[in-house]
Amino acid sequence: MSAYGHFDDVGREFVITRPDTPLPWLNYLGQDDFFGLCTNTAGGYTFWRDAKLRRITRYRYNNVPMDAGGRYLYVRDESGSDPVVWNPGWKPVKTPLDEYRCHVGLGYTDIVGVKDGVEVRQRMFVPPGEDTEVWHVTVGNRSQDARSLRLFSFVEFAFYEAQNDATNLQRTMSIGEVQVEGSAIYHVTEYRERRDHYTLFGCTSDVDGFDTSREAFVGVHEGMHEARVPFAGRATGSVARGWNPVGSHEVAIDLAPGESRELAFVLAYVQQPEPKFVEPSAARPLGVNTSAGEAILAQYSQPGAVDDAFTRLRDYWDARLSAFQGRTPDEHATRMLNTWNQYQCMATFNLSRSASLFETGIGRGMGFRDSNQDILGFVHMIPERARQRILDIAATQLSDGACFHQYQPLTKKGNADVGGDFYDDHLWLVLSTTAYLKETGDASILSEPCSFADVAPTDAAVPTVTLLDHLETSIAYTLAKRGPHGLPLIGHADWNDCLNLNCFSTEPNESFQLAGDVEGSTAESVMIAGLFLHASQEMIAMYHHLGREDDARRMQAGYDEMLAVLETQAWDGEWYTRAFDADGSPVGSHVNDEGKIYIESQGWAVLGGAGLTNGRARRALDSVAEHLATENGIVLQQPAYTRYHLELGEITSYPPGVKENGGIFCHNNSWIHLAHCLLGDGDRAFEYYLSVCPSAKQAQIDTYRLEPYVYAQTIDGKDSPTFGQAKNSWLTGTAAWTFVVLSQGILGVKPDYAGLRIDPCIPAGWDSFEVTRRFRGSTFHITVHNPDGVCSGVRQVLVDGAPADGSTLPVPDEPRTVEVQVTLG
Ligand code: GLC
Ligand code: GLC
Repeated sequence: MSAYGHFDDVGREFVITRPDTPLPWLNYLGQDDFFGLCTNTAGGYTFWRDAKLRRITRYRYNNVPMDAGGRYLYVRDESGSDPVVWNPGWKPVKTPLDEYRCHVGLGYTDIVGVKDGVEVRQRMFVPPGEDTEVWHVTVGNRSQDARSLRLFSFVEFAFYEAQNDATNLQRTMSIGEVQVEGSAIYHVTEYRERRDHYTLFGCTSDVDGFDTSREAFVGVHEGMHEARVPFAGRATGSVARGWNPVGSHEVAIDLAPGESRELAFVLAYVQQPEPKFVEPSAARPLGVNTSAGEAILAQYSQPGAVDDAFTRLRDYWDARLSAFQGRTPDEHATRMLNTWNQYQCMATFNLSRSASLFETGIGRGMGFRDSNQDILGFVHMIPERARQRILDIAATQLSDGACFHQYQPLTKKGNADVGGDFYDDHLWLVLSTTAYLKETGDASILSEPCSFADVAPTDAAVPTVTLLDHLETSIAYTLAKRGPHGLPLIGHADWNDCLNLNCFSTEPNESFQLAGDVEGSTAESVMIAGLFLHASQEMIAMYHHLGREDDARRMQAGYDEMLAVLETQAWDGEWYTRAFDADGSPVGSHVNDEGKIYIESQGWAVLGGAGLTNGRARRALDSVAEHLATENGIVLQQPAYTRYHLELGEITSYPPGVKENGGIFCHNNSWIHLAHCLLGDGDRAFEYYLSVCPSAKQAQIDTYRLEPYVYAQTIDGKDSPTFGQAKNSWLTGTAAWTFVVLSQGILGVKPDYAGLRIDPCIPAGWDSFEVTRRFRGSTFHITVHNPDGVCSGVRQVLVDGAPADGSTLPVPDEPRTVEVQVTLG
């Protein structure tokens, strides 16, 4: 609860109660192919599959005022002597409302505004499996008087290729075309030549007017808050030719006291099968065959269709989330686990790092390392989609083991501008694949044909490449690409994109990552060594499960060799060194004057099994507590860099305390949480978890500023004057990893080859918790008791009342519900 709203845990909503949140708070609409960004004042935009190549409506990032443009409904109340114009979501007109609520729900945003006794509700969502966004609009008269209203809808169309749309004005100002048929507005720019799709913006009610020219609706010198048409009171019937096409309907609504009316607007991405054209007529002046669009509008004009679609969305999410539900003594952990964390994992799975309020949708597409990690938090929800994604990602790996760092979701082709040579990328594929194997038991994915990006799959002379070949290639690549200390080479960067040990850039017009030549470079990464150890452990477990003991032994040899290198070369005395630079000097060592200790190598060394028998793991984590931990999360390194270090690159370009330069990068905090779980320290793990948990930030929301319902990528660190302020919410690896922390690390419900392994690591003060976990068709209802107040250690497991052998729950042959009682001690 804060001044801006509260969680409704039963309804699975966050209810925002005032529109002027510290920053726009975002939600996503859509779960399959059609997506919308929607803020709490109805701002945002839509796209189909790919925010760069199929942008449907426009949005201007970093605008003044912030968050202008979206799915606007203007209400013109003509009941009094002076008409009043307002929006249920407050923006853009910002007429003060008598009541405002924004229900942020799973796949929907439901905005309710009340002004002078008129209530307008705008519920926006994308029904599962459809390419249509629906706005269910209810207008009610709560007053004692008859009311005379006019509603004006508004969206601004984008010309699909978002970068071109925003920059190539000499072309785009001349190409816009629309076709209007009754209450259906079709945006058909470029349809005449190469596109076989258009956008429908329709209304299920008869309309009293329309506009499709932005100039006519808004004006040239006006802003959206003073758009001409709603203030003038009547639509102009404008038909856009060039310039900026928009969609707007005018609907007159007269309501008796207590009366209400419902209608819907639909915004659809329509692929029109042949024939693309019909004979032009007065109704279809451009001859665009709009039959597919008409069918969509007809479908949603049926009584009950909109409600049915919304019910399907609710059912969809209930089914997805039912794969994991729990109850813990901590309300923040419980709600994140059951609802918001899983929901955010869906967003990161679908969008990677492409489109949010901090990612403009024209940049990065899908990231190789990002999307592999996102699968860790998603695979339990829809394993089939994870399976396909793993194969898609693997197909952007090259035959030598390097990977395209990014790829475009629409084309699934690697992005040649960025290329590869980030020498951690390939290892994350091992983690995603083994997570899929342990979740599903489906080993068939390993023999799935999956070519390398530089090998033509049709070449009969080339033996079929399988997914398993990719995993082997990945492990071999790291073993081969090593530097003078025997540690893995870093390339352009490892997970920390801003640690650029080969760049030496003095030229502001180049990218830090791509500036340096990695050919022949010798800079090494300790973090990659730890990640390699962990990936090797996963390969070993996989091969044991497959009964391939020779292969397991081979992997074990590589593991042992790397572990020895890491322990002999990378122990700094009180923590693990982070890297060796191009000169062979240590980075993240007591010998450095800045950046003496880094977080990533502590997390990954421990997760890779280093330091477990010689006390170093605990010492390294104690050093994290001593030098890096704060009440707002664990900072990335200390002391933060105060000057630019040519040999370290972008990390030293940020102000101290921000992002990679000593900011709290929530993503890597989760590795420390898991490392504590590995050592059995549930109190520390959970305390650290809460320090980055957004639900726990409500008391300091004016400092934190971002959504209390999703994790942020970064929180400013202690070296920053804005310590505690969050940035870049939603699309961050934090989502997947913190779900792993909560569900597997702390609650200890771990998918494994032989079944569901129960191995909790909780705060000693928790006396019990419950988890309901769907796993390979069966449902495990697990209750864990902690009578002795311990953090970890399973004393007894009862399965359906009978003592079990060990703590791995086997999967029943026939799907059923299994009752499990666990006692710690
Ligand atoms: C961003 C990138 C991710 C990288 C991280 C740290 O989250 O998407 O790939 O690992 O920053 O630099
Ligand atoms: C670029 C950005 C950096 C970001 C990284 C993510 O390097 O400059 O801030 O973390 O990309 O991949």
